[in-house]
Amino acid sequence: MKFGTKLLHNGNEIDPITGAASIPLYQASTFHQTDIDHPGEFDYARSGNPTRKALEQTIAELEGGVAGFACASGMAAISTAFLLFSAGDHLVVSNDLYGGTFRVLTQVLPRLGIEATFVDTTDLTKVEEAIQANTKALYIETPSNPTLKVTDLRGVARIARDHSVITMVDNTFMTPCFQRPLDLGADLVIHSATKFISGHSDVVSGLLVTQDREIATRLSGLQNALGSILGVQDSWLTMRGLKTLKARMDASTASAAKIAEGLKRISGVERVFYTGLAEHPGHALQASQASGHGAVLSFDLGSSERVRRVLSQVHLPIVAVSLGSVESILSYPAKMSHAAMPVEERVARGVTDGLLRLSVGLEDADDLLDDLERSIEGRRLYSVGEWRASIV
Ligand SMILES: Cc1ncc(COP(=O)(O)O)c(C=O)c1O
Repeated sequence: MKFGTKLLHNGNEIDPITGAASIPLYQASTFHQTDIDHPGEFDYARSGNPTRKALEQTIAELEGGVAGFACASGMAAISTAFLLFSAGDHLVVSNDLYGGTFRVLTQVLPRLGIEATFVDTTDLTKVEEAIQANTKALYIETPSNPTLKVTDLRGVARIARDHSVITMVDNTFMTPCFQRPLDLGADLVIHSATKFISGHSDVVSGLLVTQDREIATRLSGLQNALGSILGVQDSWLTMRGLKTLKARMDASTASAAKIAEGLKRISGVERVFYTGLAEHPGHALQASQASGHGAVLSFDLGSSERVRRVLSQVHLPIVAVSLGSVESILSYPAKMSHAAMPVEERVARGVTDGLLRLSVGLEDADDLLDDLERSIEGRRLYSVGEWRASIV
């Protein structure tokens, strides 16, 4: 079956007990045991709940793994995965990384004796050089946030295998709709399902998928021991969002491509970052390991003054952190995701004071582009407030 069909027919679409066309909310923390010598599949909901199980099986199926785990947030998933490691272990990590992951790696794991070296993983030589005798994993985000640098997933997985370490990939930006890291040799896939997978800015959730049975057993033990589980309501919302993933990704990606091209023509836009642009340095690599370029792009306006003008004038995208929703989201990395990073380090990574990141939603692409163009060129005749008042 093709991906779009699998989203709707993966063995978890019908409740096995009632035949309901949507897995019900099994809003229960504990389960009656008719025979205490032979407890049923479910005994206590931290260890397992039928609603969460349906989501976990679905994401495992979609990513091509043997087991999935649903966690309370993307960070809960990432933190649970990091606790596969022990004091004295070392990780090699993409230096272009989500800020929350950077925070755990630099502020929490060192206290537990787990160290990380940050490298430009787009350069495989640097990845290999950073591996030490105690390295246990390579941790990759591709395309990276917010400048969309592309790392060669097959190449990284090959290096990992040569050194008997595992490859972990944060697949939040691409989702299994466009990129399936396990098929390319990775061992563990991570999602902030808060983003495209859920897709409606209404739930915080995280997912893990592995194709290694030993890692699966250890993650299952960690999820239960730490209690980093996703709640029943949020499991249901994540599953509901997932059903339309392909339709949303395809539509938003088509709009992102149009907007990226359009932005290049607007005076005041100094640079556009989108892997779908032929001139993006990662364009060919992205096309070789993913079936789409995704719905996130960034553009540089050259100064914080211009950014502030656009953020105050833009009508359609919400100005917020996060991405991957039905509504477009405009983020200012220098003040949001990368605010905690020292300025020189931030700018060295291309996250300048003029950079904006756009997560393209389902609005009409022409409307979005027109809105951005007017805001960038300062051609607004009325404020967002006046505009909203005029449409209600
Ligand atoms: C790439 C990536 N990974 C992980 C996370 C963390 O996910 P959550 O906010 O669901 O904890 C985010 C959040 O923005 C993200 O963008």
